[in-house]
Amino acid sequence: MKNATTPTGREVMLDEHDFLVSKTDPKGRITYANRIFMRISGYREEELLGRQHNILRHPEMPRAVFHLLWETIEGGRECFAYVKNLCKNGDHYWVLANVTPDYDRNGKIIGYFSVRRKPRRDAVDYFNRLYSELLAEERRTGSRDAIAASTKLLERAITQQGFENYETFVLGH
Ligand SMILES: Cc1cc2nc3c(=O)[nH]c(=O)nc-3n(C[C@H](O)[C@H](O)[C@H](O)COP(=O)(O)O)c2cc1C
Repeated sequence: MKNATTPTGREVMLDEHDFLVSKTDPKGRITYANRIFMRISGYREEELLGRQHNILRHPEMPRAVFHLLWETIEGGRECFAYVKNLCKNGDHYWVLANVTPDYDRNGKIIGYFSVRRKPRRDAVDYFNRLYSELLAEERRTGSRDAIAASTKLLERAITQQGFENYETFVLGH
């Protein structure tokens, strides 16, 4: 289910020591959330468990970022990403997320973990600007071609700044 919460534009600041943790099943349904994650996002455990992780999705996040995230983790690799998340009351918070696959002993993916921490302010400023450009491109091109078009913009930003891929780009900011 999509998140129908209206953003307030108010930002919640994380503390340096906050680590927001969640786990999902292979389809992205939440199976675990730690206390600080619940406190910051404003949801109780029973409101999160079993729900799709897009319950936090902020409407200003470009689709290209989540496309890349899923492509990476379903391919068995870890993903780092700057994400703007929506709280239950419409406030938002920025995180630097590290999402990793979890395997069973036969090497099959049985779920995913996400650990999020407070990003540097200059990185938030940069990704805020970049994401609004990607979002504008997605809106301009329309649903069918949105992800391809904004991914191209994202790739251009990565190479223009001399980075090899999204991971080194994210970690380099
Ligand atoms: C472990 C894990 C953690 C995730 N954390 C977030 C998150 O914090 N915020 C978010 O918007 N999406 C998160 N996602 C991605 C969502 O599953 C979803 O792809 C995204 O919100 C876009 O939603 P949509 O595809 O319905 O547009 C996470 C996915 C996984 C597997």
